[in-house]
Amino acid sequence: MANSDPYVVRRLTRDAAIAQCDRLRTIYRDAVVVAGPRHYNASQVAVWSETAEQVDRWATWFDEGVTWVATTIDAPDLFIGEALMWPADHVHLLYVDPAFHRRGVGRALLAAVEPDARQAGITALTADCSLHSHPVFAASGYDVVEWEDSAHRGEVFRRARMRKVLP
Ligand SMILES: CC(C)(COP(=O)(O)OP(=O)(O)OC[C@H]1O[C@@H](n2cnc3c(N)ncnc32)[C@H](O)[C@@H]1OP(=O)(O)O)[C@@H](O)C(=O)NCCC(=O)NCCS
Repeated sequence: MANSDPYVVRRLTRDAAIAQCDRLRTIYRDAVVVAGPRHYNASQVAVWSETAEQVDRWATWFDEGVTWVATTIDAPDLFIGEALMWPADHVHLLYVDPAFHRRGVGRALLAAVEPDARQAGITALTADCSLHSHPVFAASGYDVVEWEDSAHRGEVFRRARMRKVLP
């Protein structure tokens, strides 16, 4: 477990992640619907948020990856943000409940995964970052490797491939 005042970030077991799948998908969906339109058009946001409904993909991520969640200290059962490492050196998901955006939850999640990665012998972390999220990764020490256009279900998304060498 890692603490980042005023939040608590903890790693879920695979079974706990599966049990909390609905809440984790809701955080994802709500974050995309609220934050997505700032940088992407309606069709892109629809494609992006649709991933929340693809339960089979989430099951694969929970099976093969590691799920981290953030809560407030006062409400340890209410998840307000999530990070999913898949594979172990890649931040595949970073999503925060919109009610908590810009309050340090994303930064706390990114900080929490680092000691675990170091302990596993990982020397650098990577992420494919949306136009919305790349400042959060930059604020956490990630550098842009390159900008690219990535195609998903008929839509093209501008995103940054980012990397952080672990201190
Ligand atoms: C991206 C996301 C996870 C960030 O979570 P968050 O908890 O709001 O981020 P934080 O409050 O920890 O922000 C940390 C720092 O990142 C930067 N940052 C965060 N959001 C930013 C924004 N919208 N614009 C510019 N900088 C931003 C700031 O430097 C911020 O520090 P500050 O508030 O002290 O200035 C969240 O906005 C989200 O869920 N977005 C929608 C989904 C998404 O894009 N996910 C990533 C997919 S790759």
